Amino acid sequence: MRIAVVGSGYVGLVAGACFADLGHDVIVVDNDQQKLAALRNGDVPIHEKFLPELLSRHRGQRLQFSDDLKEAARVSSAIFVAVGTPPTESGEADLSYVESVAREISGGIEDYKVIVEKSTVPVYTSEWIRKIILRNGTDPDLFDVASNPEFLREGTAVTDFMFPDRIVTGCDSPRAAEVLRQVYLPLTDGSYYSRADAIPQPDRAQIPPPIIVTSTKSAELIKHASNAFLAMKISFINAVASVCESVGADVNQVVHGIGTDSRIGPRFLNPGIGYGGSCFPKDIMAFRSVAREFGYDFRLLDEVMKINEDQRQRFVRKVHHALWTLRGKHLGVLGLAFKGGTDDIRESPALAIVQLLLQEGSKIAAYDPAAMDRTREILKNGITFANSAYDAARDADALLILTEWEEFANLDLARLRGELKYPIVIDGRNLYDPEMMAAQGFTYYSVGRAASHPDGVPAAVSKNGKKA
Ligand code: UGA
Repeated sequence: MRIAVVGSGYVGLVAGACFADLGHDVIVVDNDQQKLAALRNGDVPIHEKFLPELLSRHRGQRLQFSDDLKEAARVSSAIFVAVGTPPTESGEADLSYVESVAREISGGIEDYKVIVEKSTVPVYTSEWIRKIILRNGTDPDLFDVASNPEFLREGTAVTDFMFPDRIVTGCDSPRAAEVLRQVYLPLTDGSYYSRADAIPQPDRAQIPPPIIVTSTKSAELIKHASNAFLAMKISFINAVASVCESVGADVNQVVHGIGTDSRIGPRFLNPGIGYGGSCFPKDIMAFRSVAREFGYDFRLLDEVMKINEDQRQRFVRKVHHALWTLRGKHLGVLGLAFKGGTDDIRESPALAIVQLLLQEGSKIAAYDPAAMDRTREILKNGITFANSAYDAARDADALLILTEWEEFANLDLARLRGELKYPIVIDGRNLYDPEMMAAQGFTYYSVGRAASHPDGVPAAVSKNGKKA
């Protein structure tokens, strides 16, 4: 099948490369000439496992890059729209890029096509795309608008694409549903997985994945509701962690206890410094805003956002609690990316905490395996960048863990202790066991668990419920 993917950002590029790997002929369209030149040249603009392999496998063959949207639309049966939908001041999604793509596509419709929303968009967007295309004189029998939301996580996007829990296709006509069925057939009939060069299968993969066909509106809503639910899970466990801290319970034990209930499940219940990234914060606001526009006051989402914001402040209070004053203190920071496995710092809670600490006059030595270049562009004063976790810890008053990189969970603790001025670790991602850290000679603070000390005496709980 011939497919056009509009937008070579994170979603578009991954989708384009994966569609090519499924055997389709793909044209990725962008109007950024520099980006196109770089992609044609073999550059890989994002840090994403298996993407370099797929791009080099298909570039110039099944995968082309172009700035001619009209022509790409003309030769394709399915046109996936993966352009940005950034938030406006009021939190709504800005759909102007989607609109201009719809306008331009209409000039390239000479035979039947399905225009597929791949970007995360509010529930009424498919209707608008349809209206815009009709307004530009296209025959209504020559196209359908469908929604095919993505559930890719940054860092594992290629694997998530090839081994999805489900494929959601929102279509209002059998004809459109058939086109999307054909697009994903190599996954749903299992043939992709028997290929020798298939992307390696992760744990928990359900193959072949089910395809869920819904109305277009339902599919649009499934995307917002999925992200909102996952964010709610994170805020829920962070709220529980706060109660654990007050009463002296252990949130990890609580997670184990509730997560083994199959109705709840253990995933996305890791407490920490809150969620970030380019999706959850933006999508929760957009969902909140679209619900309001259609008359429903989705107050639960306000609370999800508020708990998430509070988590950062709580962490900074914890640093105060451990170190008293922060002006002039040297802090080692592990992690700047919004989560492990990516160089993305958009809406990163780690970065927000670093900024709060810098405002308080602390001096930061930060290390992140992938996100330091991006951070350098926006943070200049009070921060230095280290070459390793141990380098960041050198002579620091305390070490802060802010991103859940796997490498931070496997540090040589004796070496780390030797580097630090004081053996204090404040872990915003619960990567270590408090007792083990105490046994290794650290005073260790984490989220939703009592602080531990090298002398083995658990932190006392004072009258107001705060640990001493
Ligand atoms: C998220 C969703 O997981 C994807 O399904 C979705 O496709 C994507 O948004 C999107 O809409 O494009 P992503 O933003 O890459 O993916 O990151 P996640 O792995 O979901 O993590 C989001 C944030 O939550 C990170 O800051 C992470 O550290 C935090 N998190 C995650 C927790 O604090 N606790 C958890 O248990 C899980």
